[in-house]
Amino acid sequence: MPIIVCENNIFVLETSNTHYVLGIDAAGCNRHIYWGKKCDVRDYVIDYNKDENSHNTALDEIAQEYTPFGSTMYRGSALKATFADGCRETDLKYVGYEKTDNTLVLHFADTHYPLAVTLHYRLAEGLDIITRWTTVQNTGKEAISFEKLFSAELTLPSKKPYTFKNTNGGWAGEFLETNTTVEGGTAVFESRGGVSGHNQVPSFIAYQNADETAGDVYFASLAYSGNFKVSASRDLYNTTRVLLGLNDFDFAYLLKAGESFSTPKVFCGNTQSFGEMSRQMNRFALEYVLPKPYNKTPLPVLYNSWEATYFDVNSENQCALAERAAEMGVELFVMDDGWFGARKDDRAGLGDWFVNREKFPNGLTELIEKVNSLGMDFGLWVEPEMVNPDSDLFRAHPDWTYHYPHRTAHELRNQLVLNMTRQEVQDYIFGLLDALLTENNIKYFKWDMNRALSETGARNLEEPKMLWYLHTKAVYDIVDKLKQKHPDVTIESCCSGGGRADLGALEHFDMVWTSDNTDGIDRMTIQKGYSLLHPTKAMRAWVTDIEGINKPCSLDFRFAVAMQGALGIGGNLTKYSEADLEICKKNIALYKQIRELVQFGDLYRILDIEKDEVLLNQYVNVQKTESVAFLLANGTRFYKKRMPVCFDGLDDNKRYTLTVQNQTYEKSGAYLKNVGIPLHIRGVDYNEIIRIKEVRAQ
Ligand code: DGJ
Repeated sequence: MPIIVCENNIFVLETSNTHYVLGIDAAGCNRHIYWGKKCDVRDYVIDYNKDENSHNTALDEIAQEYTPFGSTMYRGSALKATFADGCRETDLKYVGYEKTDNTLVLHFADTHYPLAVTLHYRLAEGLDIITRWTTVQNTGKEAISFEKLFSAELTLPSKKPYTFKNTNGGWAGEFLETNTTVEGGTAVFESRGGVSGHNQVPSFIAYQNADETAGDVYFASLAYSGNFKVSASRDLYNTTRVLLGLNDFDFAYLLKAGESFSTPKVFCGNTQSFGEMSRQMNRFALEYVLPKPYNKTPLPVLYNSWEATYFDVNSENQCALAERAAEMGVELFVMDDGWFGARKDDRAGLGDWFVNREKFPNGLTELIEKVNSLGMDFGLWVEPEMVNPDSDLFRAHPDWTYHYPHRTAHELRNQLVLNMTRQEVQDYIFGLLDALLTENNIKYFKWDMNRALSETGARNLEEPKMLWYLHTKAVYDIVDKLKQKHPDVTIESCCSGGGRADLGALEHFDMVWTSDNTDGIDRMTIQKGYSLLHPTKAMRAWVTDIEGINKPCSLDFRFAVAMQGALGIGGNLTKYSEADLEICKKNIALYKQIRELVQFGDLYRILDIEKDEVLLNQYVNVQKTESVAFLLANGTRFYKKRMPVCFDGLDDNKRYTLTVQNQTYEKSGAYLKNVGIPLHIRGVDYNEIIRIKEVRAQ
């Protein structure tokens, strides 16, 4: 995977199928040259043509890797700094480069002020994904203040408009796709509440004529769980540029003498279909994003108490649920909200991470021992960043929350946000979580976060606007520290469902909760949106008692949806009939046989529930010897659904056996892809899990 240094300071980053080309021009400015299919490296040049007039300047026209604010450049910039004497312009000139087999580092320095800027690029073996980030360093004696500090600027090659996929979701409706064509002006996708949020996602997928199997697709995902901004614009020269990074809304970063700061990373790539994009990002996340060592370990089948008992947890009902869960084949039993402090509902207790003795007279140990004796690991829900005003913690430390002395600190869900930028708050949280893990055999935390930040006064900070970044960093730091001390513990990121289900979270947490919406029908759409850029393995998905808010949805159907991620059970098993318990047992046993395929395989999205009324998702192992396909429909219309169902991702020349609609077939991969199996998919609640296996010559 070479990094080629050509004459005239042109650098070619060669991935499996693409070239990403950048350079340094005669004036020492960074330039973007090209990104896309490979060309002859000798042909790449820096374009010195200009079409300048006194309102649209040459600087505005050029494509850059990272544009600093200043001079006669008026488009959105990646960096804006104010120096000690009040100068708000940055003038970067090239200093030199360093490279290894898979990394390129370009150094720049301001022509007058003590600021060094470094652009980082890292290639990933066998993939078309490049990791980019930026480091700024204050090499002087006085502080430099930043009001923009994006991670990366990306310029797309085509002069025609791109359509940008992002989302317009909300609580219980995360990852709902939107497609915005940017012909001119700027489209902004962002979050401002302190988390990456339920509404839009910190990524973009820019495409022309693309679908699951063809097209031109450029994408990038920002590894950050706080306020982000993705701004995509197309200028008068028809150049499309995207900036990604920390949101410049209410943002500042004070870089003191001698300090340096590295932005969150951006993972970007170019593929020839959405399908290939998702498969590459899935492999990439498994290899390079998810925390080690559990990135390669299949996630256990989990039980979670939330929808069964809500806040009303106690030793008795949790033991009863645990017994049933163990009989079903569950491997990790998680007690959700309600076990601590004075927690009866969402009005009290947050912050007091001590077991509620009324509910658990013998402490947590009794339940944990019971769970362990049933052969399961034990996990616990926590919401460490929060405090209810009705809590011992708040009574002792009312000043530990974000607030302004003369403004109302608004509660959302009856809670306030702890000022995570204070060291004593971080120490308190770490201390309590560490004690829980040290004193109890807890193997998993579900780390929740149930409100957006507001009234973000943080008078402990010299530059209070740094709180947005420092809050997210504190969360990451505590998670890392806990895992370092307790390496056998895994941690899930939850934020009222999928408010923090991003690749930044997944650099630290082992998995994410994608949505509080566990309706099997809705979930198909939510999971599809998630699957575009995020790893299947890390997506927790539960089967609950929601039988379809608008349409019937059987237990088998709900399993067939949840088994397309890391399976969890969230229903009240103590109320299940014998027949339903048998369905649980059967599906959990099946999941254990196919989970390696689902969690580590390549996903082919063949039929889309929104567009085709039928969902067909197929997961194929790397060797292409085995696959599992999920075929689901929840109400086909117009008697039209007799169709040849084609499969994908198999080896054309291998022969496979599969049973579908009670008939067994033996066919080649090529036949299954091009001819398919004629099926009749009718009615409500159609669900079938199809296992496809290579037939080996005897
Ligand atoms: C929101 C989460 O998304 C739910 O799964 C559950 O843990 C509740 N919080 C508990 O309050």
